[in-house]
Amino acid sequence: MIQIIASVLGSRYDRLGDELRDLAQAGVDAVQWDVMDGHFVPNLTFGAGVVAACREVVDLPYEAHLMIEDPDRWSLDYLEAGCETVIVHAETTDDLARSLGMIRSAGGRAGVALNPGTGLDALAGAIELIDLLVVMTVEPGFGGQGYIAEMEPKINAARGLLDAAGNSAPIEVDGGIKAHNIAGPYAAGAEHFISGSGILAHPDGKTAAVAELRAALA
Ligand code: DX5
Repeated sequence: MIQIIASVLGSRYDRLGDELRDLAQAGVDAVQWDVMDGHFVPNLTFGAGVVAACREVVDLPYEAHLMIEDPDRWSLDYLEAGCETVIVHAETTDDLARSLGMIRSAGGRAGVALNPGTGLDALAGAIELIDLLVVMTVEPGFGGQGYIAEMEPKINAARGLLDAAGNSAPIEVDGGIKAHNIAGPYAAGAEHFISGSGILAHPDGKTAAVAELRAALA
């Protein structure tokens, strides 16, 4: 099922609650918290306390995208903060099955993200534990970057890999998604679309931005 998910990385942190209410009003399906530690990526963002403080602001599902080293240290904190889904990067764990299993055992949906340069072989031994597969379509760390269309064959191959394992987990794309390019990853097999600047910085506002993204998939 198609989901338009807003990344709050580029939101106005001085009015985060209002931004979340605006996003709910604009019709997004969920919110993604881009968690960054200044080590795995050269940027620093939201601790679990910020997510917890915002949990009651809207009813939307929250997902935490952990762009951090040592995700096993923090993944359950984001579940406790109110995220239904926690996404770890395959590049940051020495045992992806363990990292995903921890999240599942704590009642969460376990996601795994792959950087553009990371192959699907990084998923070996953990395919059955994947509830969400995120194909990065930018190098992680910052919003407002250009979409890497070369990832579309990887999206297609990822769909095939999951299907071959009998895993119906959706594929999510994250990075540079706009109305003019969203049809590509959709055709390749993606169902969840993360958009940050495409929604938050849209000249006609968040509602128009979300409607445009959905119309581009119709
Ligand atoms: C990169 C971030 C961004 C963000 C989306 O680390 O994960 O991809 O969520 O930002 P835009 O839509 O502006 O690329």
